Amino acid sequence: MCGIFGIVTDKEQTLGPILIEAARRLTYRGYDSVGAATISGGKIDLRKDVGRVDEVAKKYNLAEMSGRRGITQLRWATFGEPSQVNAQPHLDSDGDLVGAHNGNVVNNVELRQQFMAEGMTVRSHNDGESCVHAVERYIDKGCDFIEAIRRAHADLQGDYAFVIGRVNDDKLFAIKKGSGLVIGIGQGFTCVSSDLPSILPLTRTIVRVQDGEIITLWADRVELRSVKDGSLIVREPELITETMEAVQKGGYAHFMLKEIHDQPQVAREVLHMLERNLQVQVVLDKIKRARHVYFIGCGTSYHACLAGSVYFAQLAGQAIIPVLATQFIPQYLPAVGPQDVGLFVSQSGETKDVLNALQAAEGRGMTCFGLANVIGSTLSKTTECWLPLCCGYEISVPATKTFTNQVVTFLVLAYRLGGRDTKELEQIPALMEQTIDSVAAAVLAITPSVNQWNDLYCLGYGATYPMALEGALKLKEITYAHCEGMLSTEFKHGPLSAVTRGFPVLFAAGPEDIPLIVSGINEVTCRGGRAIAIGQEDARLRANASDLIVLPEATPQISSLLAVLPLQLLSYYMSISRGYDPDFPRNLSKTLTVD
Ligand code: AGP
Repeated sequence: MCGIFGIVTDKEQTLGPILIEAARRLTYRGYDSVGAATISGGKIDLRKDVGRVDEVAKKYNLAEMSGRRGITQLRWATFGEPSQVNAQPHLDSDGDLVGAHNGNVVNNVELRQQFMAEGMTVRSHNDGESCVHAVERYIDKGCDFIEAIRRAHADLQGDYAFVIGRVNDDKLFAIKKGSGLVIGIGQGFTCVSSDLPSILPLTRTIVRVQDGEIITLWADRVELRSVKDGSLIVREPELITETMEAVQKGGYAHFMLKEIHDQPQVAREVLHMLERNLQVQVVLDKIKRARHVYFIGCGTSYHACLAGSVYFAQLAGQAIIPVLATQFIPQYLPAVGPQDVGLFVSQSGETKDVLNALQAAEGRGMTCFGLANVIGSTLSKTTECWLPLCCGYEISVPATKTFTNQVVTFLVLAYRLGGRDTKELEQIPALMEQTIDSVAAAVLAITPSVNQWNDLYCLGYGATYPMALEGALKLKEITYAHCEGMLSTEFKHGPLSAVTRGFPVLFAAGPEDIPLIVSGINEVTCRGGRAIAIGQEDARLRANASDLIVLPEATPQISSLLAVLPLQLLSYYMSISRGYDPDFPRNLSKTLTVD
């Protein structure tokens, strides 16, 4: 959460447009507030406020900002409400240091009190400001910058990265402790950022920073030092060959819509990758011999774990314990040991709740594997082995393509564990394409009437139950309506009382579960409610449901995967109809690196 970018150039110039573009490309990490600072000789120009990049850029004319060094930050509020004073970057007491962070300094409150007691000027409640004062504290005691950062690092608890600079100097400094940080090296400049999208338009030569490393950036070189003892670290730069097209909208109105349409292609890629990846067998061998197997994740990734557990039982006769990452520690940790296997699932590979569970499980000697999208993420680096999701960047906060590739991966693992021929799965990309094309009109047609309601239910059974949960999460995440996902057979045990004339209830219907689903449908329709079924063409669904959104013929498990596609589209269309931005729903962040 939060994004930082800093640049050092070889001449005084207008840095505003570079900072604005970098901030735009980090928007997915936070968008409560935006700030920029440029340093020119002995002066710092600092402009920041609550709002999106373009609003703040226009209001404060960020484009005109100039200097030889610049910093920008995108904030997703944790310490201190979103406000101008809490927006980043921050100054030190005298206004000759400026810095910004991403992550979470957990002893922020105690540190602020210490800084004030020591006579420093603390202006905000934000933990980014604490990073600046933590350095100031040691600069004022006469330490050089590297030594000051080393000591600040010992004082700042939590996971973070920050970038900081001083007036009358030609450098920026940065440090990484648990949050992402990448360096870019170009002609006449160097830069540092939380993530690649803000660097790639400027240069393709990068250096990945590891935890516990302090960076010094000059316009023509960078230096890495260990925070432990200040020793120099030598790391060769690497050349990035990916195109930026992957992080652009590719003609779609929103990243979410593009990413929904990306799904068949990325499914194809993950299927190819899994076919050749030797780690798959390593994971399966361990699962086969394990005492207990846990699939662990949060939010959408947890729903994929749930789907995986259904497939493993149905297709391979293997019982799995799917668990929300935060519940893993209180419920299962006392019971796990070296005989058990955990598969930790996360798009970002940086979700703190997942990493906490991983760390605790490793402490008990459990074999830990990862399933993540972001290459180089903490999850990908700290698990015994990990499988990549092959989705490229997923910019939109609501996860779509990473969810379906998690599910595809689980299908491959379950097929292989069950000794089934994975050839059957090769039809998935084409079936997804067919589904997206064929359901779009039907979904658009029901959108206006469903959109009139602020209470919805999304039900499933067996393999479609996780899809109902996922559909409900997408609907509430980007339409701000209340939508509950649940097992269809549970609806009659209480929520049925919500049904009034026209009340919409969505049913994801697996081809082998039609009789049970039809019972649920009739419980709704006989009370005047509207039952919208998503399933394969079936006379029973046609006769009983108010609407039928037709999926192509497929096996029950593949069909469950297809059922999520119309739910993604419905949430997208509803979000647009309500005038919201589905890519950046309020209050949320793509990567949650806090407890
Ligand atoms: C999905 O639409 C959500 N944005 C959210 O539930 C997300 O899946 C969750 O925060 C976990 O993230 P991760 O997969 O990066 O660990």
